[in-house]
Amino acid sequence: MNAIISGIGHFVPPKIVTNKDLEKKINTTDEWILQRSGIRERRFAEPGVGASDLGYEAALRAIEDASIKKTDIDFIIAATLSPDHYFPGIGILIQAKLGIPEIGALDIRNQCSGFIYGLSVADQYIKSGTYKKILLVAAEVQSSNLDYSDDGRDMAVLFGDGGGAIILESGRQNDGRGLLSTHLFSDGRFHQELWMEKPSPNDKPTFSEEMLQSKKYFPRMNGRNVFKNATEKMPQAVRTGLKHNGLTIDDVDHLIPHQANDRISLLVARNLGIPVEKVVRNIDRYGNTTAASIPIALDEALKSKRIKKNDIVVLTAFGSGFTWGSAVIRW
Ligand code: UT7
Repeated sequence: MNAIISGIGHFVPPKIVTNKDLEKKINTTDEWILQRSGIRERRFAEPGVGASDLGYEAALRAIEDASIKKTDIDFIIAATLSPDHYFPGIGILIQAKLGIPEIGALDIRNQCSGFIYGLSVADQYIKSGTYKKILLVAAEVQSSNLDYSDDGRDMAVLFGDGGGAIILESGRQNDGRGLLSTHLFSDGRFHQELWMEKPSPNDKPTFSEEMLQSKKYFPRMNGRNVFKNATEKMPQAVRTGLKHNGLTIDDVDHLIPHQANDRISLLVARNLGIPVEKVVRNIDRYGNTTAASIPIALDEALKSKRIKKNDIVVLTAFGSGFTWGSAVIRW
Protein backbone atom coordinates (compact mmCIF):
# COMPACT_ATOMS: atom_id res chain seq x y z
CA MET A 1 0.00 0.00 0.00
CA ASN A 2 1.39 3.39 -0.96
CA ALA A 3 1.44 6.32 1.45
CA ILE A 4 -1.18 8.96 0.68
CA ILE A 5 -1.46 12.66 1.38
CA SER A 6 -4.69 12.63 3.37
CA GLY A 7 -4.65 16.33 4.27
CA ILE A 8 -2.91 19.48 3.11
CA GLY A 9 -2.89 23.14 4.09
CA HIS A 10 -0.88 26.30 3.75
CA PHE A 11 -0.58 29.67 5.41
CA VAL A 12 1.10 32.86 4.25
CA PRO A 13 1.38 36.02 6.32
CA PRO A 14 -1.18 38.69 5.37
CA LYS A 15 1.35 41.44 4.58
CA ILE A 16 1.78 41.75 0.79
CA VAL A 17 5.02 43.34 -0.43
CA THR A 18 4.93 44.31 -4.12
CA ASN A 19 7.91 44.92 -6.38
CA LYS A 20 6.99 48.61 -6.24
CA ASP A 21 7.26 48.47 -2.43
CA LEU A 22 10.76 46.99 -2.78
CA GLU A 23 11.76 49.78 -5.17
CA LYS A 24 11.57 52.09 -2.14
CA LYS A 25 14.28 50.17 -0.21
CA ILE A 26 16.34 48.45 -2.91
CA ASN A 27 18.19 49.68 -5.98
CA THR A 28 15.86 47.70 -8.25
CA THR A 29 12.81 48.02 -10.47
CA ASP A 30 9.51 46.25 -10.85
CA GLU A 31 10.45 45.54 -14.50
CA TRP A 32 13.78 43.91 -13.56
CA ILE A 33 12.20 41.64 -10.96
CA LEU A 34 9.27 40.64 -13.17
CA GLN A 35 11.38 39.99 -16.26
CA ARG A 36 14.12 38.06 -14.47
CA SER A 37 11.95 36.02 -12.09
CA GLY A 38 8.21 36.35 -12.84
CA ILE A 39 7.61 37.63 -9.29
CA ARG A 40 5.06 40.43 -8.75
CA GLU A 41 4.67 40.27 -4.98
CA ARG A 42 5.56 38.19 -1.92
CA ARG A 43 4.44 37.94 1.72
CA PHE A 44 6.54 39.18 4.64
CA ALA A 45 5.90 38.10 8.23
CA GLU A 46 5.57 40.78 10.89
CA PRO A 47 8.28 40.99 13.59
CA GLY A 48 7.73 38.31 16.21
CA VAL A 49 6.34 35.79 13.71
CA GLY A 50 8.67 32.86 13.05
CA ALA A 51 8.75 29.89 10.70
CA SER A 52 7.21 27.79 13.51
CA ASP A 53 4.19 30.14 13.60
CA LEU A 54 3.57 29.87 9.85
CA GLY A 55 4.21 26.12 10.04
CA TYR A 56 1.76 25.78 12.93
CA GLU A 57 -0.99 27.60 11.00
CA ALA A 58 -0.36 25.42 7.93
CA ALA A 59 -0.38 22.30 10.14
CA LEU A 60 -3.79 23.22 11.63
CA ARG A 61 -5.21 23.49 8.10
CA ALA A 62 -3.69 20.14 7.03
CA ILE A 63 -5.07 18.43 10.16
CA GLU A 64 -8.55 19.81 9.48
CA ASP A 65 -8.31 18.82 5.81
CA ALA A 66 -7.40 15.25 6.82
CA SER A 67 -10.36 15.15 9.24
CA ILE A 68 -8.14 13.86 12.05
CA LYS A 69 -7.45 14.97 15.61
CA LYS A 70 -4.10 16.53 16.51
CA THR A 71 -3.52 13.59 18.84
CA ASP A 72 -3.78 11.14 15.93
CA ILE A 73 -0.40 12.42 14.67
CA ASP A 74 2.40 10.12 15.78
CA PHE A 75 5.45 11.86 14.26
CA ILE A 76 6.42 15.32 13.03
CA ILE A 77 8.91 16.26 10.33
CA ALA A 78 9.70 19.93 9.77
CA ALA A 79 11.77 21.43 6.96
CA THR A 80 13.18 24.96 7.03
CA LEU A 81 16.33 26.96 6.35
CA SER A 82 15.07 29.82 8.48
CA PRO A 83 14.42 28.36 11.94
CA ASP A 84 13.14 30.57 14.75
CA HIS A 85 16.32 29.82 16.71
CA TYR A 86 19.78 28.57 15.88
CA PHE A 87 18.68 25.58 17.97
CA PRO A 88 16.39 23.79 18.75
CA GLY A 89 14.61 23.34 15.43
CA ILE A 90 11.05 24.26 14.52
CA GLY A 91 9.69 20.69 14.69
CA ILE A 92 9.51 20.74 18.46
CA LEU A 93 8.17 24.32 18.48
CA ILE A 94 5.32 23.30 16.18
CA GLN A 95 4.74 20.25 18.37
CA ALA A 96 4.50 22.48 21.47
CA LYS A 97 2.08 24.89 19.73
CA LEU A 98 -0.08 21.94 18.65
CA GLY A 99 -0.03 20.57 22.22
CA ILE A 100 0.95 17.02 21.31
CA PRO A 101 3.93 16.30 23.58
CA GLU A 102 6.32 13.36 23.53
CA ILE A 103 5.95 12.15 19.94
CA GLY A 104 9.17 12.44 17.92
CA ALA A 105 9.85 15.64 15.96
CA LEU A 106 12.58 15.67 13.34
CA ASP A 107 14.06 18.71 11.61
CA ILE A 108 15.22 18.52 8.00
CA ARG A 109 17.96 20.85 6.70
CA ASN A 110 17.73 20.59 2.93
CA GLN A 111 16.73 24.13 1.96
CA CYS A 112 14.63 24.35 -1.24
CA SER A 113 14.57 20.54 -1.46
CA GLY A 114 13.46 20.22 2.17
CA PHE A 115 9.87 19.26 1.43
CA ILE A 116 10.86 16.45 -0.96
CA TYR A 117 13.52 15.19 1.46
CA GLY A 118 10.93 15.27 4.26
CA LEU A 119 8.40 13.48 2.08
CA SER A 120 10.93 10.77 1.37
CA VAL A 121 11.73 10.24 5.06
CA ALA A 122 8.02 10.22 5.97
CA ASP A 123 7.32 7.71 3.19
CA GLN A 124 9.87 5.24 4.57
CA TYR A 125 8.32 5.45 8.06
CA ILE A 126 4.81 4.91 6.70
CA LYS A 127 5.85 2.03 4.43
CA SER A 128 7.72 0.31 7.28
CA GLY A 129 4.73 0.74 9.60
CA THR A 130 6.86 2.68 12.12
CA TYR A 131 4.40 5.61 12.20
CA LYS A 132 0.78 5.84 11.04
CA LYS A 133 0.08 9.54 10.60
CA ILE A 134 2.97 11.89 9.99
CA LEU A 135 2.71 15.67 9.96
CA LEU A 136 5.22 17.08 7.44
CA VAL A 137 5.60 20.85 7.68
CA ALA A 138 7.74 23.19 5.59
CA ALA A 139 7.91 26.83 6.62
CA GLU A 140 10.14 29.84 6.11
CA VAL A 141 10.52 33.38 7.37
CA GLN A 142 13.27 34.73 5.15
CA SER A 143 12.31 38.39 5.13
CA SER A 144 14.18 39.06 8.38
CA ASN A 145 17.57 38.19 6.89
CA LEU A 146 17.74 39.76 3.43
CA ASP A 147 20.43 42.22 2.39
CA TYR A 148 18.75 45.25 0.83
CA SER A 149 22.08 46.76 -0.26
CA ASP A 150 23.43 46.30 -3.82
CA ASP A 151 25.46 43.30 -2.58
CA GLY A 152 22.32 41.33 -1.80
CA ARG A 153 19.67 42.75 -4.11
CA ASP A 154 19.74 39.72 -6.44
CA MET A 155 18.44 37.58 -3.56
CA ALA A 156 16.43 40.15 -1.61
CA VAL A 157 13.88 40.51 -4.42
CA LEU A 158 13.35 36.76 -4.83
CA PHE A 159 12.41 35.46 -1.40
CA GLY A 160 9.16 35.41 0.55
CA ASP A 161 7.65 33.90 3.70
CA GLY A 162 5.11 31.09 4.00
CA GLY A 163 4.30 27.64 5.26
CA GLY A 164 2.78 24.43 3.91
CA ALA A 165 1.91 21.14 5.59
CA ILE A 166 0.60 17.69 4.78
CA ILE A 167 -0.55 14.62 6.65
CA LEU A 168 0.97 11.45 5.22
CA GLU A 169 -0.53 8.09 6.08
CA SER A 170 -0.96 4.62 4.62
CA GLY A 171 -3.50 4.29 1.82
CA ARG A 172 -6.58 2.28 2.62
CA GLN A 173 -6.81 0.41 -0.68
CA ASN A 174 -4.25 -1.27 -2.87
CA ASP A 175 -5.39 0.73 -5.91
CA GLY A 176 -2.03 2.02 -7.17
CA ARG A 177 -2.73 5.53 -5.93
CA GLY A 178 -0.55 7.51 -3.54
CA LEU A 179 3.12 8.39 -3.31
CA LEU A 180 4.83 6.11 -5.84
CA SER A 181 8.46 7.06 -5.19
CA THR A 182 10.89 9.78 -4.14
CA HIS A 183 14.39 10.38 -5.53
CA LEU A 184 16.98 12.40 -3.64
CA PHE A 185 20.29 13.86 -4.83
CA SER A 186 22.93 16.21 -3.51
CA ASP A 187 26.40 17.50 -4.34
CA GLY A 188 28.09 19.24 -1.45
CA ARG A 189 30.99 20.42 -3.62
CA PHE A 190 28.71 23.31 -4.54
CA HIS A 191 27.72 24.39 -1.02
CA GLN A 192 29.27 27.85 -1.46
CA GLU A 193 27.17 28.59 -4.53
CA LEU A 194 24.12 29.38 -2.40
CA TRP A 195 24.66 29.73 1.31
CA MET A 196 24.65 31.75 4.47
CA GLU A 197 28.33 31.57 5.27
CA LYS A 198 28.41 32.93 8.79
CA PRO A 199 28.53 32.15 11.62
CA SER A 200 31.14 29.55 10.64
CA PRO A 201 33.84 27.51 12.41
CA ASN A 202 36.22 30.45 11.78
CA ASP A 203 34.17 32.60 14.15
CA LYS A 204 35.37 32.08 17.71
CA PRO A 205 33.42 33.28 19.57
CA THR A 206 30.61 32.55 17.16
CA PHE A 207 29.10 36.03 17.33
CA SER A 208 31.40 39.03 17.31
CA GLU A 209 31.39 42.63 16.10
CA GLU A 210 33.82 41.61 13.33
CA MET A 211 31.52 38.82 12.17
CA LEU A 212 28.56 41.22 12.04
CA GLN A 213 30.56 43.78 10.05
CA SER A 214 31.48 41.15 7.43
CA LYS A 215 27.77 40.96 6.41
CA LYS A 216 28.39 37.30 5.58
CA TYR A 217 25.40 36.29 7.69
CA PHE A 218 23.25 37.33 4.73
CA PRO A 219 22.45 34.68 2.14
CA ARG A 220 24.62 34.88 -0.99
CA MET A 221 24.47 33.03 -4.28
CA ASN A 222 26.10 32.66 -7.63
CA GLY A 223 22.75 33.20 -9.36
CA ARG A 224 23.80 32.19 -12.86
CA ASN A 225 25.34 28.90 -11.75
CA VAL A 226 22.38 28.07 -9.50
CA PHE A 227 20.06 28.88 -12.41
CA LYS A 228 22.02 26.65 -14.82
CA ASN A 229 22.14 23.71 -12.41
CA ALA A 230 18.48 24.05 -11.45
CA THR A 231 17.39 23.83 -15.10
CA GLU A 232 19.53 20.70 -15.61
CA LYS A 233 19.08 18.80 -12.35
CA MET A 234 15.31 19.10 -11.92
CA PRO A 235 14.60 17.53 -15.34
CA GLN A 236 17.09 14.74 -14.56
CA ALA A 237 15.33 14.03 -11.26
CA VAL A 238 11.92 14.00 -12.97
CA ARG A 239 13.14 11.59 -15.66
CA THR A 240 14.58 9.29 -12.96
CA GLY A 241 11.25 9.29 -11.11
CA LEU A 242 9.19 8.57 -14.22
CA LYS A 243 11.51 5.79 -15.39
CA HIS A 244 11.45 4.17 -11.96
CA ASN A 245 7.66 3.91 -12.21
CA GLY A 246 7.51 2.86 -15.87
CA LEU A 247 5.91 6.20 -16.78
CA THR A 248 6.65 8.58 -19.65
CA ILE A 249 6.54 12.36 -20.01
CA ASP A 250 3.09 12.02 -21.63
CA ASP A 251 1.77 10.41 -18.43
CA VAL A 252 2.51 13.57 -16.40
CA ASP A 253 -0.70 15.52 -15.67
CA HIS A 254 0.86 18.13 -13.37
CA LEU A 255 4.44 19.21 -12.83
CA ILE A 256 4.99 21.14 -9.59
CA PRO A 257 8.52 22.52 -9.59
CA HIS A 258 9.97 24.35 -6.60
CA GLN A 259 9.06 27.98 -7.27
CA ALA A 260 12.57 29.49 -7.46
CA ASN A 261 12.16 31.58 -10.57
CA ASP A 262 9.41 31.36 -13.19
CA ARG A 263 12.03 31.25 -15.95
CA ILE A 264 13.54 28.17 -14.27
CA SER A 265 10.12 26.48 -14.05
CA LEU A 266 9.41 27.15 -17.73
CA LEU A 267 12.87 25.93 -18.82
CA VAL A 268 12.48 22.75 -16.75
CA ALA A 269 9.15 22.08 -18.49
CA ARG A 270 10.63 22.85 -21.90
CA ASN A 271 13.63 20.62 -21.28
CA LEU A 272 11.24 17.78 -20.37
CA GLY A 273 8.78 18.49 -23.20
CA ILE A 274 5.92 19.07 -20.74
CA PRO A 275 3.35 21.64 -21.98
CA VAL A 276 3.24 24.82 -19.93
CA GLU A 277 -0.47 24.27 -19.07
CA LYS A 278 0.60 21.28 -16.97
CA VAL A 279 3.04 23.32 -14.87
CA VAL A 280 1.79 24.69 -11.55
CA ARG A 281 3.18 28.22 -11.11
CA ASN A 282 2.37 30.66 -8.32
CA ILE A 283 5.71 32.44 -7.84
CA ASP A 284 4.14 35.68 -9.11
CA ARG A 285 2.23 35.95 -5.80
CA TYR A 286 4.64 34.48 -3.25
CA GLY A 287 8.21 34.71 -4.54
CA ASN A 288 10.52 31.87 -3.55
CA THR A 289 9.31 30.42 -0.24
CA THR A 290 12.08 27.79 -0.27
CA ALA A 291 10.96 24.53 1.46
CA ALA A 292 7.36 25.77 1.63
CA SER A 293 6.93 26.47 -2.09
CA ILE A 294 5.90 22.97 -3.21
CA PRO A 295 3.25 22.29 -0.52
CA ILE A 296 1.79 25.78 -1.05
CA ALA A 297 1.58 25.21 -4.83
CA LEU A 298 0.20 21.68 -4.38
CA ASP A 299 -2.45 22.91 -1.95
CA GLU A 300 -3.54 25.68 -4.30
CA ALA A 301 -3.71 23.26 -7.25
CA LEU A 302 -5.83 20.84 -5.20
CA LYS A 303 -8.18 23.43 -3.72
CA SER A 304 -8.81 24.89 -7.20
CA LYS A 305 -9.77 21.34 -8.33
CA ARG A 306 -7.01 21.38 -10.93
CA ILE A 307 -5.78 17.94 -9.78
CA LYS A 308 -8.21 15.03 -10.31
CA LYS A 309 -8.32 11.49 -8.95
CA ASN A 310 -5.68 9.23 -10.58
CA ASP A 311 -3.74 12.17 -12.07
CA ILE A 312 0.04 11.79 -12.13
CA VAL A 313 1.58 14.65 -10.15
CA VAL A 314 5.35 15.11 -10.25
CA LEU A 315 7.14 17.30 -7.71
CA THR A 316 10.71 18.47 -8.20
CA ALA A 317 13.05 20.81 -6.34
CA PHE A 318 16.57 22.17 -6.50
CA GLY A 319 18.45 24.39 -4.11
CA SER A 320 21.28 25.14 -1.74
CA GLY A 321 23.70 22.30 -1.10
CA PHE A 322 23.28 21.64 -3.97
CA THR A 323 20.36 19.37 -3.14
CA TRP A 324 17.64 18.27 -5.52
CA GLY A 325 15.01 15.58 -5.98
CA SER A 326 11.64 14.47 -7.27
CA ALA A 327 8.51 12.71 -6.10
CA VAL A 328 5.92 10.91 -8.23
CA ILE A 329 2.34 10.69 -6.97
CA ARG A 330 -0.75 9.07 -8.48
CA TRP A 331 -3.43 11.25 -6.91
O1 UT7 B 1 15.59 28.35 -4.75
C1 UT7 B 1 16.76 28.03 -5.44
C2 UT7 B 1 17.67 29.13 -5.32
N1 UT7 B 1 17.59 30.26 -6.17
C3 UT7 B 1 17.50 30.23 -7.51
O2 UT7 B 1 17.22 29.24 -8.12
C4 UT7 B 1 17.79 31.50 -8.25
C5 UT7 B 1 18.68 31.24 -9.44
N2 UT7 B 1 19.11 32.43 -10.13
C6 UT7 B 1 18.27 33.33 -10.68
O3 UT7 B 1 17.08 33.19 -10.59
C7 UT7 B 1 18.86 34.45 -11.49
O4 UT7 B 1 20.22 34.23 -11.66
C8 UT7 B 1 18.61 35.86 -10.88
C9 UT7 B 1 17.13 36.22 -10.94
C10 UT7 B 1 19.11 35.92 -9.45
C11 UT7 B 1 19.37 36.90 -11.69
O5 UT7 B 1 19.00 36.86 -13.04
P1 UT7 B 1 20.12 36.84 -14.18
O6 UT7 B 1 19.43 36.92 -15.47
O7 UT7 B 1 20.99 35.62 -13.93
O8 UT7 B 1 20.88 38.20 -13.90
P2 UT7 B 1 22.44 38.42 -13.71
O9 UT7 B 1 22.95 37.73 -12.51
O10 UT7 B 1 23.07 38.10 -15.00
O11 UT7 B 1 22.51 39.99 -13.42
C12 UT7 B 1 22.21 40.90 -14.42
C13 UT7 B 1 22.38 42.31 -13.89
C14 UT7 B 1 23.67 42.56 -13.11
O12 UT7 B 1 24.14 43.83 -13.51
P3 UT7 B 1 25.34 43.95 -14.59
O13 UT7 B 1 26.50 43.23 -13.97
O14 UT7 B 1 24.82 43.28 -15.83
O15 UT7 B 1 25.50 45.42 -14.72
C15 UT7 B 1 23.22 42.64 -11.67
O16 UT7 B 1 24.03 43.48 -10.89
O17 UT7 B 1 21.30 42.65 -12.98
C16 UT7 B 1 21.85 43.26 -11.81
N3 UT7 B 1 20.97 42.96 -10.67
C17 UT7 B 1 19.87 43.70 -10.43
N4 UT7 B 1 19.35 44.77 -11.03
C18 UT7 B 1 18.21 45.27 -10.52
C19 UT7 B 1 21.06 41.97 -9.77
N5 UT7 B 1 20.01 42.05 -8.92
C20 UT7 B 1 19.26 43.10 -9.30
C21 UT7 B 1 18.09 43.67 -8.83
N6 UT7 B 1 17.58 44.75 -9.47
N7 UT7 B 1 17.40 43.17 -7.77
